[in-house]
Amino acid sequence: MKGVILAGGEGTRLRPLTLVTNKHLLPVFDRPMIIHPLETLKSIGANDICIITGGEYMADFMRFLGSGSDLGVNLTYKIQDGALGIAHALLQTENFSNNGKIITILGDNIFEWVSIPPEAFTDDNAYIFLKEMKKPQRFGVPVFDSSGNILKIEEKPAQPKSNFAVTGLYIYPADVFDFIKTLKPSGRGELEITDVNNWYLKQGRLKAIKVDGFWSDSGTLDSLLRATLLRALQKGSPSIGFLDKAETIKNLTDSI
Ligand code: DAU
Repeated sequence: MKGVILAGGEGTRLRPLTLVTNKHLLPVFDRPMIIHPLETLKSIGANDICIITGGEYMADFMRFLGSGSDLGVNLTYKIQDGALGIAHALLQTENFSNNGKIITILGDNIFEWVSIPPEAFTDDNAYIFLKEMKKPQRFGVPVFDSSGNILKIEEKPAQPKSNFAVTGLYIYPADVFDFIKTLKPSGRGELEITDVNNWYLKQGRLKAIKVDGFWSDSGTLDSLLRATLLRALQKGSPSIGFLDKAETIKNLTDSI
């Protein structure tokens, strides 16, 4: 399976940490951030991985990750010219995808574990992964009808209509690229991944799967700390061994 890690963007919410380096090279617990989504892709069988980042940082990623052979993966690198949005970053992988389904993960997303039904890798649907949380307004948020079907996804709503966040893991069929080419930039000047997901939803081709393990992004100072603590708890770091694991994971998720 082919996977993509989107590691572009400017990391402005993490300044000054990102003034001289790329966000995805900062540490999350015991390793640079990008290794965590890479391990998630590996865990679901995507070993042929394309990394997207801005040209100014590409050399750092190549120096760190090389061909990927030390990590048990095969790496391809593509440059995104300008932080023009997640969907724009994904568009850079059209040739890499070779007309197959493509598993995409945001380079700042930290998952405890993910479970994916086998048909997601072969059918004609798009898949998103939802995590329940108390305050999801920083994320894409699904709106449900009374039967639990998704009506639409709202990007960073001031008043969220559900307690779920759309995480940064997506599986798309090959026609995703044709649709992205029709997208117009949003108010923040980006091609939005939420517009892509709403397009699949309108066609009845969007499947949503709930994430059971913990999940955090790590793109703000607060979430970087949370992601570090969650990984440290998962890996049994002795310095926080006094914390109750299950309760602390719940508290950290609810604190978002
Ligand atoms: O983390 C999940 C959330 O990620 C979703 O719930 C939202 O729907 C989605 O829009 C996104 O929201 P963020 O505001 O957190 O996205 P951010 O701009 O921080 O970008 C997330 C990752 O995407 C970042 O680690 C690198 C990559 N990216 C982002 C941009 C803007 C790129 O590769 N290129 C880009 O131009």
